[in-house]
Amino acid sequence: MTSNDTELAPLEFSVTKNLAARPAAQREEVLKSPGFGTTFTDHMVDVCWSARGGWHRPRVQPYGPISLDPAAAVLHYGQEIFEGIKAYRHADGSVHTFRPEKNAERLQRSARRLALPKLPTEYFLQSLREIIAVDGDWVPSGADQSLYLRPFMFAKEAFLGVRPAQKVAYYLIASPAGSYFTGGVKPVRIWLSETHARAGKGGTGAAKTGGNYASSLLPQAEASDKGCDQVVFLDQDGNVEELGGMNVVFVFKDGHIVTPQSDSILEGITRDSLLQLAEDRGHTVERRAFSLKEWRDGVASGDIVEVFACGTAAVVTPIGALVSAGFEDAQPIGELALSLREELTDIQYGRREDKHGWLLRLDA
Ligand code: PLP
Ligand code: COI
Repeated sequence: MTSNDTELAPLEFSVTKNLAARPAAQREEVLKSPGFGTTFTDHMVDVCWSARGGWHRPRVQPYGPISLDPAAAVLHYGQEIFEGIKAYRHADGSVHTFRPEKNAERLQRSARRLALPKLPTEYFLQSLREIIAVDGDWVPSGADQSLYLRPFMFAKEAFLGVRPAQKVAYYLIASPAGSYFTGGVKPVRIWLSETHARAGKGGTGAAKTGGNYASSLLPQAEASDKGCDQVVFLDQDGNVEELGGMNVVFVFKDGHIVTPQSDSILEGITRDSLLQLAEDRGHTVERRAFSLKEWRDGVASGDIVEVFACGTAAVVTPIGALVSAGFEDAQPIGELALSLREELTDIQYGRREDKHGWLLRLDA
C-alpha cells in the first residue's frame, strides 16, 4: 500500500452473478488445455472514474461486451493502459498472486504518463480479490497453469478534442492460461527489427499502454515471416531494449548478469524477481545500456554464455537465435535461465519458501 492510500475507504462492490455461467463440466474441459488469452471467465470487474466524482460505481458483473460511444477518446487517441498478473493454485487449493503491489504501482506510473487517473493500490488489490471471489474455480491446477488477470483502464469520454479524458473506466478480466508459446519452454528465435522502433526517447516505452503493442505488430508479423517467435527492438543509439512482450537478460561466463535499462523499457516484475533470486545466489547484476555490438561480440567471444527473455505471460524463455536481414547468430544455451525459472515458479506455486514475502493470498 502506498502511503497516501492509507486513509482510503474500501470500495463497496455491487455483485451481479452471471446466470449463464458455464457449468463445472464445461469449465473443467476448458481448463484441461487453456492455451493463452482465448477464453475468459464468467465475470468481470469494473470501476468508473470521473474528474468530478473520482472512483465510483464499483461492480462485479457478468463477462460481456462493453458499450462505448463511438466518440470515446480511447477509440481515437489510444488513451489506454493495462497490466498482466497471474493467480496460482497451490497444492492445498488456495489461490495466490505474485507481487501485486508492483503491478499496482506500475499501473500508476503508466497512468501518469498517459494522463489517466491514479487507481489506488488498495483498489487494485480489491479488484483482484473480487474476481477470485466469483471466478476462483477458474484458477486451473495443472502444471504451469494459472489464471491470467488483465486489469486495464481507458478513456471513455465522448469527446474529439485532444486532451485528457474526464471520464475513464477501469476493468479487470481473467483468462485461464497454459503456456504462452505453443510447444512449451524451448529456445525461441528472435528477429532483430532494424527498420521499426517500439518506443523513442521521452516516449511511452516505460508505460504499459496499447500503442506500444500496436507499433510492435508489424515487426512481429515480419518476425513470423522470417520464422521467428518474437522481435527484439533497439533504441536510436543501437542499444538493446526488449522484446515485444518480454525483457531480455544476458548471462556472462564469470557469472555476472546484464539487463538493459532505460526510460524506454518496461520495468518487468518477472525480471526484477529473477534478478533478485540470482543475486541471492551470489550473481552480480548490472542494469545499464547494453548495445547490440556488445551482444554480438560477447556471443562470438564466448563471454556471453546465455541469453533469455522473461515476462508474466511467458515466464522465462531461453533465446536460441538472433536473426536479422544480414546475419543469424546462434545463441549459447546455459542452465541458469531454466534453473531460475524453476525457483521462481516453485515460489509462485507454493512449492518453495517465499523468502521475500512476494505472495498474496487472494481467496481468503
Ligand atoms: N516488456 C514488455 C513490453 C511486456 O509487455 C512485458 C510483459 O508484461 C514485460 C516486459 C515483462 O513484464 P512483467 O515481468 O512485469 O510481466
Ligand atoms: C504479460 O506478460 O503479462 C504481458 O502483458 C505481455 C503480453 C505480450 C501478453
